[in-house]
Amino acid sequence: TTQEDRCRASPDELAFGTGKHCVSDPTTVAAKLRKMVVGGAGKTVVISDFDYTLSRFANGSGERLSTTHGVFDDNVMRLKPELGQKFVDLKNKYYPIEFCPKLTMEEKIPHMEKWWGTSHSLIVNEKFSKHTIQDFVRQSRIVFKDGAEDFIQSLDAHNIPLVIFSAGIGNIIEYFLEQKLGAIPRNTHFISNMILFDEDEKACAFSEPLIHTFCKNSSVIQKEAPFFHEINGRVNVILLGDSMGDIHMDVGVERDGPTLKVGYYNGSLDDTAALQHYEEVYDIVLIHDPTLNVAQKIVDVIN
Ligand code: TMP
Repeated sequence: TTQEDRCRASPDELAFGTGKHCVSDPTTVAAKLRKMVVGGAGKTVVISDFDYTLSRFANGSGERLSTTHGVFDDNVMRLKPELGQKFVDLKNKYYPIEFCPKLTMEEKIPHMEKWWGTSHSLIVNEKFSKHTIQDFVRQSRIVFKDGAEDFIQSLDAHNIPLVIFSAGIGNIIEYFLEQKLGAIPRNTHFISNMILFDEDEKACAFSEPLIHTFCKNSSVIQKEAPFFHEINGRVNVILLGDSMGDIHMDVGVERDGPTLKVGYYNGSLDDTAALQHYEEVYDIVLIHDPTLNVAQKIVDVIN
């Protein structure tokens, strides 16, 4: 089949709507879905990335929106341009490395460690207060994908745990959810980099171990073993991600059930090699999708 054919194919269980998507192996997707439907909500856990997965990549005019780290770029640029420029320079230097098709993951890792390490040092050295960071989030260009609020609330309503596994900054996600949803739903669990605050509520360190794009796997989630043990009956995983680094986020789950991997592709349509790579590692690839409609439909089918 041609790539165009594969992009049109979709398993009977789901109607994907009009958004462009690719399902390279509809039979496997249908089989995974059937197992998940049999298991129902009680056997399901959702493991999702945050930046550009639950949050939108671009606004209606095609301008890139903010990641959780990007909250510092924008706000600090406004208040302290010299420091703000340092965050922007880091992004301009390392973002192309993160997505460079010519480098292997092993080659990228030292660069990612340098990026995260430098960025976190800038935040800690500046001793930003919790209150300031909450203000930054309020004024940030982080935007939920359409339907994300309902998706998160519906998981909570059906008692399906939502693990937000992010190489971004967990506190920023928490503040964002609090601001958008009023509170953090009970079902939500974070695996992320957390800013630690001193007794004056000033940033003083980051949690260990450092989580960057390419270590979102068991090496990081070792300390999460008690949580994964607690949900050990949840053998079916819906995994949502937007990068190659997201595909092993289910590694800590104790089970032999299926993982349905949904990938949000934000790259160029001309980059057929990248798109093909996404098709190989994700069961369903959603191209430039600003909504969570497909993830919601999967959960609706399972319930
Ligand atoms: P994730 O989406 O896999 O959780 O990764 C977080 C993203 O954050 C990743 O694409 C790189 C980006 N990032 C920034 O935008 N600024 C930064 O300072 C750092 C350390 C990461």
